[in-house]
Amino acid sequence: MTALDLSSPVAVVGTGTMGQGIAQVALVAGHPVRLYDAVPGRADDAAAAIGARLDRLVEKDRLTAADRDAARARLLPAASLAELADCGLVVEAVLERLDVKQDLFRELEGVVADDCLLATNTSSLSVTAVGGALANPGRFVGLHFFNPAPLLPLVEVISGFATDVTSATRAYETARAWGKTPVACADTPGFIVNRIARPFYAEAFAVYEAQGADPATIDAVLRESGGFRMGAFELTDLIGQDVNESVTHSVWQSFFQDVRFAPSLAQRRLVESGRLGRKNGQGWYDYRDGAERPEPHTAEPAAPPAHVVAEGDLGPAGELLAMIREAGIEVREEDEDHGTRLVLPSGGQLVLADGQTSVEFRDVVYFDLALDYRRATRVALSASQDTAPQTLAEATGLFQALGKKVSVIGDVPGMIVARTVARIVDLAHDAVAKGVATEEDIDTAMRLGVNYPLGPFEWSRRLGRNWAYALLDDLHLRDPSGRYAPSLALYRHAYASDKREGSPS
Ligand SMILES: NC(=O)c1ccc[n+]([C@@H]2O[C@H](COP(=O)([O-])OP(=O)(O)OC[C@H]3O[C@@H](n4cnc5c(N)ncnc54)[C@H](O)[C@@H]3O)[C@@H](O)[C@H]2O)c1
Repeated sequence: MTALDLSSPVAVVGTGTMGQGIAQVALVAGHPVRLYDAVPGRADDAAAAIGARLDRLVEKDRLTAADRDAARARLLPAASLAELADCGLVVEAVLERLDVKQDLFRELEGVVADDCLLATNTSSLSVTAVGGALANPGRFVGLHFFNPAPLLPLVEVISGFATDVTSATRAYETARAWGKTPVACADTPGFIVNRIARPFYAEAFAVYEAQGADPATIDAVLRESGGFRMGAFELTDLIGQDVNESVTHSVWQSFFQDVRFAPSLAQRRLVESGRLGRKNGQGWYDYRDGAERPEPHTAEPAAPPAHVVAEGDLGPAGELLAMIREAGIEVREEDEDHGTRLVLPSGGQLVLADGQTSVEFRDVVYFDLALDYRRATRVALSASQDTAPQTLAEATGLFQALGKKVSVIGDVPGMIVARTVARIVDLAHDAVAKGVATEEDIDTAMRLGVNYPLGPFEWSRRLGRNWAYALLDDLHLRDPSGRYAPSLALYRHAYASDKREGSPS
């Protein structure tokens, strides 16, 4: 099955933010494009806006003047749906309301030919539900572009229950022919990206709600240790707290209020108070003139320990041993069976975040997961009120000797990066097991759709087979709400090659 022929006109219905972007993509790819909007005059305005964007591409040498002129000549605003009759594909980007979209597609079905592919750009409605309005839902797909569509490569191609394989493949190949990176996805709440990304926001907000750290510190740790492009607080300020919360709310509701997707009370309060983010000057942060950006917590310099004793395999933090040696600190390795830890000269222990809390042990400081300890510029430590000040000072001095800034946070199990990554990995495994998408497509979607430094499966492989499961299992013991309960899929993954003796009882 091939992509839609370039001679075949593409219609975009709803010419707001997304419609304009999608129309530009189809136009630059070479199709004739028709624009229709319910509000008279908007399709003409959209054509003018797209034309102006093409001018800018010419100025930046990304499009020749001749190609721009040809593209402009192919772009036609339509005054009625009837003018879309000869289109081979209609992409809908109207108001996010089921009844509005269904009414539109019912009407469209009476206008276009039987072999015209129909697509919705919905971000939160069920593709199956929208397509349910059609007499022939087999030709109906979700084509979920990301904003700004001309710049972001990812397109989720969603098959509803009734979508036929031919239509899904045609939509997929067409997106690819337009220079996009399509991923195939089943019709489930949030599709791939908006489903698997939820813990990135939720866990940051949860650490804040638990008084673990302030937004600036959590953001700094997610960026400088986790390798995420932006922290959850600054990113949601950019997206808009109302927009981000409504996606969370919709995914949670669609999963019948599954606690794993529960919205955040702190974010609710923010939205209720009208602090929507950058767009109105205040969100988690203050963007008004003269406002100062709060600094993350950064520990004062402390003396490094003279030596550390390394016990067991530090797993994802194994690289630290070489780094500590390179910093001139002696490492004595002992093959103990007590678990995996660094013992400091004070006798206190330094342990990679594992879903337990410092208060449960005598003199433990936890350190957070880093994407890459060599490249990380900051590492978070957590201690309880029972941790000896000397242990915390030695742990701080140790990471500072490795050139890291240190943020000390509260005694929050799973800390910041570790719990976030573990939950993302879990949701990704769960999604594959439920037939949402393949591992490869999920990795691609999370890297391209939300800029994660690694796809969840790449990350999972780096961390080790059992890592995310063990951490979530520990977290689940401490918070039995179900929020951290590892999925059956992750359980299977963790124990797939670790067969027990005997037979099931
Ligand atoms: N904005 C985003 O970041 C984003 C990203 C991905 C998907 N989406 C989805 O894309 C769709 C459009 O979002 P948007 O942000 O571009 O909205 P928008 O408000 O910018 O534009 C919507 C346009 O649709 C028009 N419209 C409304 N009802 C119509 C109808 N019955 N027939 C024809 N035109 C109609 C409106 O006049 C408006 O011009 C929504 O389904 C949204 O969920 C949005």
